Amino acid sequence: MIAPMSVESNNATTPSPAVAPGSEDIDPRRTAEDLGKVGIDPRLPAFVPGFDAPFFQAGLAGYSDGAMRIIARRHGCPYCVTEALLDRTLLAGGRGFAKADLGDLHDNVPGGEEDHPLAGQIMGSEPAEMAAGALKMVEQGTRHDREYRSMAYAANGSFAPTTQHLRLPGGEQLGRVDLCEDANDEWGSCDPVDHQAHTPGSPLLRALRVSARNSSSDSSPAHPPASPSSTLPLTASPSHSFSSIDINLACPVKKIASKARGGHWLAEPDGAIRILEAVREAVPNHIHCTVKLRRAFDDTPEMASNCDRILAAAFDMGYAWATVHARTVEQKYIGPSRWDVLRDIVARHPDRIIFGSGDVWSAPDIFRMIAYTGVKAVAVARGCIGNPWIFRQARDLMAGREPAPPTIAEQAAVLREHFALLLAVNHGARHCETTSSRQIRKFGIRFASHHPRNKQVRLAMIGVESREDWEQVLADHYTGEPA
Ligand SMILES: Cc1cc2nc3c(=O)[nH]c(=O)nc-3n(C[C@H](O)[C@H](O)[C@H](O)COP(=O)(O)O)c2cc1C
Repeated sequence: MIAPMSVESNNATTPSPAVAPGSEDIDPRRTAEDLGKVGIDPRLPAFVPGFDAPFFQAGLAGYSDGAMRIIARRHGCPYCVTEALLDRTLLAGGRGFAKADLGDLHDNVPGGEEDHPLAGQIMGSEPAEMAAGALKMVEQGTRHDREYRSMAYAANGSFAPTTQHLRLPGGEQLGRVDLCEDANDEWGSCDPVDHQAHTPGSPLLRALRVSARNSSSDSSPAHPPASPSSTLPLTASPSHSFSSIDINLACPVKKIASKARGGHWLAEPDGAIRILEAVREAVPNHIHCTVKLRRAFDDTPEMASNCDRILAAAFDMGYAWATVHARTVEQKYIGPSRWDVLRDIVARHPDRIIFGSGDVWSAPDIFRMIAYTGVKAVAVARGCIGNPWIFRQARDLMAGREPAPPTIAEQAAVLREHFALLLAVNHGARHCETTSSRQIRKFGIRFASHHPRNKQVRLAMIGVESREDWEQVLADHYTGEPA
């Protein structure tokens, strides 16, 4: 029996069951096994090679950095989304937005060969900025920052129509450039956040490789992601870039200076559609665009049809899929996700690819949501913080195997591995070990919920200041199988 994770944070209530009348009769094991035999919707791996299971790791601001994504992948997660990054953060090269309440540029850089396929997620308020930001994300800083800014802003500082800037006079799309000027550069330059950390053969890359080699056999992926290199028509190594660009129309963070962004676009569908158009126009055709949105802004009748309108427009423009978080923007992360509403949305767009999000706390929940709503894949969000085993368990269910909770030895291996990856991700930063120690506490207290002495372990983790302290916690609590 797999117990749902206990997850509490400022952003979240404890796990709530979704609103899904009639779902009691669903047998998630049967759905999982059927999918294991028949296979998932073939359009998923056709769009994104390697996307071979009906679930993925959602964007989770403050969590889903390269380290968390690699741990998820080593447990069978076939596809990940970065946390939402403000387009302006991208355009400013990470500068000037240190207090932004959203993603950090650094956390959104692909974490090496193993961190694919990966969707880069952006959000913002102006179509031209979003378009330039999306293109910059795809290219990973191969051009100078100034060039992207000139795409986003007219000389007088007002916003320029996207097409004037993103297409050459002959109509050729500016985005169709080689993804990197130096095909030997395994990271692309991700200026200017941390050149040292991400340059070819950098300590980060080396450390990630070492970490990959050293990862215990227990935690190696049941199904390593297929290398996208064979299929992606890129001129440079696919590790330079993202398999897709995901537009965030879901984040409930407040408007800035009365400008909509994220989920607030659900109340202004025309603006949302302009953003989707501008981004699709700017991004090279071989990079897929996708969208994450909420089921509605709020539960008033005026807002009810906006989600459908945005979805229809996105699909008409060629967006590959949409992920619908079945809470309203007003709900933030509180209260149940309305799977019944999600089911109706899916039914109104029968031929389109819709993914679902909200109240997925355990591996069976993934298949319950699929069976109940008809979504083609499920975003695993809070349910995978400190719980990468949810992906292994989902794979087990699909293969007709009994999913097992992680042993203490497996927990220890992953906790050690996660810290090594954080050190790699933070390499080159000042106070790398202290930063990594603080980050591992945040993850560790979530991991601790698998431990029989949960409270004691959490307390020990809270005091961690160094790698040595972390090793001591592992030695004190994660050796042998405590009774
Ligand atoms: C702390 C936190 C950060 C989040 N950050 C993002 C984000 O950057 N991008 C995104 O698309 N969704 C983000 N989400 C939303 C989740 O991806 C997911 O849609 C939501 O948590 C509902 O799923 P759940 O109830 O299973 O957790 C975030 C959620 C939380 C709790």
